[in-house]
Amino acid sequence: MHTIADFAEQLAREAGDLVRHERENTTLRTDYKDQTELVTHADLMADQMITDAIRKRFPDHRILSEESQPDRAQAQDLDSPLWIIDPIDGTVNYAYGHHQVAVSIAYAEKGRVQVGVVHAPFVNETFRAVRGGGATLNGESIEHSGATTPRDSLFATGFPYTKDKLPPLVNRLDAMIHKCRDLRRIGSAALDICWVACGRLDIYYESVSPWDFAAGRLIALEAGARAGHFSEVPEGHPEDLWGQDLLISAPAIYDEIRMVLRSASA
Ligand code: IPD
Ligand code: CA
Ligand code: CA
Repeated sequence: MHTIADFAEQLAREAGDLVRHERENTTLRTDYKDQTELVTHADLMADQMITDAIRKRFPDHRILSEESQPDRAQAQDLDSPLWIIDPIDGTVNYAYGHHQVAVSIAYAEKGRVQVGVVHAPFVNETFRAVRGGGATLNGESIEHSGATTPRDSLFATGFPYTKDKLPPLVNRLDAMIHKCRDLRRIGSAALDICWVACGRLDIYYESVSPWDFAAGRLIALEAGARAGHFSEVPEGHPEDLWGQDLLISAPAIYDEIRMVLRSASA
């Protein structure tokens, strides 16, 4: 698995160099997916770079990538290894010149994520984990915050591009703001999760797609955080790749926060 992880890290770094270069040296070209979701030319370039390299090295592996192969049904097919790619997580941040931007690459076998790499090119931070091997940030071992009470916990979440299902999200937000110390809306789910992994945040919850969280979730688990869902995972769907009502936090506060989110969803 370490060979796969080295390959994934090298790819994430190369894609990171590309997206940074594009923002610093070219005029950003933007478009909208489904008339709501921002996409830039750099998202497409990085997706192509990563998927071409995987196809060349592992022609038998499948790919689930946000821009070029976003078929979520791939997550349920357990036949051959699956790569899960978000070429730029934090596209809105990217377009606005913010630093919280990441390339996220996960590798799964039989629905279980084995390797995760999240690389933030503007701050040169690389989070990495191999299942059973711990998690690192720039090569140094990382651990969750150890938070013991919601009152002293900082949480992050996000909001979907389509705004037609906002009321339950606002209910949960209301409950969480009352229960916890404060909220951060960072704009990159992959980094939110890695920040729980290294203790810069205590809690993350949101509903997102496999490419947003697959790598980060393994990194958080390997850093000792707890990951699960505050609603049921449909039977037969690999839990590692189910992004609805995701909750990742320091272990001691997980059960209490899960109850808060469940009650606010009822
Ligand atoms: C988005 C970010 C954001 C989350 C959205 C995602 P993108 O990914 O992860 O934090 O709230 O749900 O879609 O579009 O920047 O790759
Ligand atoms: Ca994303
Ligand atoms: Ca993206």
